[in-house]
Amino acid sequence: MATIQQIDYGTPKSTSEKMVNLTIDGVKVAVPEGTSIMRAAMEMGTQIPKLCASDMMEAFGSCRLCLVEIQGRNGTPASCTTPVAEGMVVHTQTDRLKRLRKGVMELYISEHPLDCLTCSANGDCELQDMAGAVGLREVRYGYDGQRHPNPGIDASNPYFTYEPSKCIVCSRCVRACEEVQGTFALTIAGRGFDSVVSPSQQQPFIDSECVSCGACVQACPTATLNEKRTIEIGTPEHERITTCAYCGVGCAFKAEMRGEELVRMVPWKDGKANRGHSCVKGRFAFGYATHRDRILKPMIRAKITDPWREVSWDEAINYTASEFKRIQAKYGRASVGGITSSRCTNEETFLVQKLVRAGFGNNNVDTCARVCHSPTGYGLKTTYGTSAGTQDFDSVEHSDVIMIIGANPTDGHPVFASRMKRRLRQGAKLIILDPRRIDLVRTPHIEADYHLPLKPGTNVAVVTSLAHVVVTEGLVNEAFVRERCDWDEFQDWAAFVSLPRHSPEEVEKVSGVPAEAIRGAARLYAKGGNGAIYYGLGVTEHSQGSTTVMAIANLAMATGNIGRQGVGVNPLRGQNNVQGSCDMGSFPHEVSGYRHVSEDATRAMFESLWGRPLDSEPGLRIPNMIDAALDGSFKGIYIQGEDILQSDPNTQHMAAGLAAMECVVVQDLFLIETANYAHVFLPGSTFLEKDGTFTNAERRIQPVRRVMSPLNGFEDWQITQMLSNALGFPMNYTHPSEIMDEIARLTPTFAGVSYKKLDELGSVQWPCNEAAPEGTPIMHINGFVRGKGKFVITEYVATDEKTGPRYPLLLTTGRILSQYNVGAQTRRTDNVIWHEEDVLEIHPHDAEQRGIRDGDWIKVASRAGETTLRAQITERVAPGVVYTTFHHPTTQVNVVTTEFSDWATNCPEYKVTAVQVSPSNGPSEWQEEYEELTRQSRRIAERLVAAE
Ligand code: SF4
Ligand code: SF4
Ligand code: SF4
Ligand code: FES
Repeated sequence: MATIQQIDYGTPKSTSEKMVNLTIDGVKVAVPEGTSIMRAAMEMGTQIPKLCASDMMEAFGSCRLCLVEIQGRNGTPASCTTPVAEGMVVHTQTDRLKRLRKGVMELYISEHPLDCLTCSANGDCELQDMAGAVGLREVRYGYDGQRHPNPGIDASNPYFTYEPSKCIVCSRCVRACEEVQGTFALTIAGRGFDSVVSPSQQQPFIDSECVSCGACVQACPTATLNEKRTIEIGTPEHERITTCAYCGVGCAFKAEMRGEELVRMVPWKDGKANRGHSCVKGRFAFGYATHRDRILKPMIRAKITDPWREVSWDEAINYTASEFKRIQAKYGRASVGGITSSRCTNEETFLVQKLVRAGFGNNNVDTCARVCHSPTGYGLKTTYGTSAGTQDFDSVEHSDVIMIIGANPTDGHPVFASRMKRRLRQGAKLIILDPRRIDLVRTPHIEADYHLPLKPGTNVAVVTSLAHVVVTEGLVNEAFVRERCDWDEFQDWAAFVSLPRHSPEEVEKVSGVPAEAIRGAARLYAKGGNGAIYYGLGVTEHSQGSTTVMAIANLAMATGNIGRQGVGVNPLRGQNNVQGSCDMGSFPHEVSGYRHVSEDATRAMFESLWGRPLDSEPGLRIPNMIDAALDGSFKGIYIQGEDILQSDPNTQHMAAGLAAMECVVVQDLFLIETANYAHVFLPGSTFLEKDGTFTNAERRIQPVRRVMSPLNGFEDWQITQMLSNALGFPMNYTHPSEIMDEIARLTPTFAGVSYKKLDELGSVQWPCNEAAPEGTPIMHINGFVRGKGKFVITEYVATDEKTGPRYPLLLTTGRILSQYNVGAQTRRTDNVIWHEEDVLEIHPHDAEQRGIRDGDWIKVASRAGETTLRAQITERVAPGVVYTTFHHPTTQVNVVTTEFSDWATNCPEYKVTAVQVSPSNGPSEWQEEYEELTRQSRRIAERLVAAE
């Protein structure tokens, strides 16, 4: 493995199609109009010295190192800020230029500390490189000149330090924070020689508005901003490209290593999802991979009340296989099932569902998408014919109006949010439908044109009302609808949405959104140019989740906002591979590529390759498995990388179901909450320890590459393979690429995917097949996958979960930037500094009525259960609505969520729970018991580590 060089071209690539011809150092070149001279030279291989320029940001022109001479022009302009012109003749290396550049470098070096040999950036410092590039051999002003202000090293951020004495005030960090990240946390304070980089109001980084994305650290050409791990370990010596294992954005990274130690994760500029950017989780929060809590040896126990017994892999696998065989012999073929992981690779997910369908001989397989985006699959397949988003992320750069529904991109999908914010700063309009005032409603240089703070549970009413305005005010794109959609269905739908009960004035009564705001938002979306919709779990996790997805799809079709750049309907998917786990056939009714198990021809294809008959009846979903366990007919489950006890609703019900089973097998990194009910624990591997692929929210299949040996001895797919072999269903893969070849053979939308292609192209978006050998960035360009687009009637039905005198408030849930899902990974990193506990956001009015002060312990009770956490009083939530996150198991917010779920897919209604909030003295009894259980698990883990 070698070092992968990434050239910094100094300024961003121009997208112009018009070419300009010029001559640089006697060589004729042609580049797109708008290209800087610096970039034109770099592209032909001539490196002009530079310090303040970087191709991640617009040119700034402050260091004066990149000077060039242009024939016929006076002076020596900066090549980074000077665009090319037709016929221009440029010289980059003349005696005059050499003299000037040396002079500039002399000034920089005369005031820079000369501790290069011990500096953490040694060998990775652009200032050092430039001194060499300009041939600096002496400094006429000496080395003991006055230094810039040096307030001392700021090490307050857990991941990087700021050492002002090394700053050359190039402003790259400030511009990275503004242009790449869009947070505007940094400024240059002071003037002239006293200039210094200042986080917020000259505060420590940790107290500033900084969100620790690391863009400034990456941009800094010196060691002024430097990662603590690099300081501690030294500079890396080899690297591999891989994909972040946190969220559905799917950022590509260079994993930079020293031996088998990961030094740092550097966002990969050629990564098509992230374009060189990242968030705090992907860049810094990988410490969980080597955390002492990781369980590395298999364990078994006959009863869940017994202590764990550490055993060999052979014993664990044979015990599991014999238990599943025993259970099936006693209770029948359908008495066992499996759950695939949206954190594992496509290949691993595919194997788990293969094991269930062919090894277990039933279709009892499900995935965590059940509790997040299953309504997306249902809704988009019904209306458009494909269970996935329509665009690539680049598309947002062509959007004129962006509508965000039930999503909080700056916390949930931060890197895509940064791209979106850039487009908004360029002037795109913004509409937000959310009960909560998310950051994007108002953030530096961005203000939503419309924020529709709808009452939780009224999405269908409001989106249908937007359609009402579009239809009744004559804003339908009739040409598009006539050509692309079923016209009869459209007419039925148009008549339906036009009914007076869908008017904004009527809908205001149920949703609380002012009618004028609904009208204004609808007009803006329909008339504002390219309209793009992005939505999240605030749409899907409702009893009408699938209906809302179809209402959104209807709206986009009616306005012609489908099938080209800048438009579309895009679910922002949560987990890194939730799209992939759905694609791979993790649902009980569908094999890979979303084909129903009842299709004879499809089943025949699988049966002939796998040599086993497949069941034509859909199997059990997660909630059905739990119900069946309580009924006594479901007795064994194989759960790979999913903490269903913590992430699924109605915790007590889930716990009772798990406790009723005879063999619960958990394959995971840590003793997660579900493991409290497990009989077998199989240690899993992290994304750093395996090869495979993840598929992100834009259907992009990206490589995951093994950079270190699995600490547990095996990649997750190997464990599934061992189990399958022990069960008597042979699997003999030697590498995940062979699993992908099988997926491609069995799945028409993946027919053209192979590891060779991924190595060549970096990534590819499905469908990828003969018709689209390099993949499909944008779907439905010439027609919908299903043929004609289908308009579906979307009748609003109020949820059965209603507020009343006993439970007068509506609880809704979400996530925050620094934590991820149930927190199993991020809680085991320094990210805990930003979120030590889950809190309940409550409006000042509701808090005052209940005598609750900021920071007080409070009890949240629903008809399902109660939990205790601290209050945070804020106007981010409207009166009558409370909000919390679910990153910490001790709060177990799912104790209060109910069993209501989406009518079509069973996706739980996490976003609406009627609750009462009252003052409390502290954690409740079960929370203290829970704490004790966690302490016990920790002790076991420590004992096992010590025994090694
Ligand atoms: S880490 Fe990111 S948010 Fe923080 S100052 Fe740097 S660029 Fe800005
Ligand atoms: S901290 Fe680094 S990037 Fe920022 S101004 Fe100083 S040298 Fe430039
Ligand atoms: S945005 Fe998502 S994929 Fe990208 S670095 Fe952050 S967590 Fe990882
Ligand atoms: S790189 Fe052009 S002025 Fe600094």
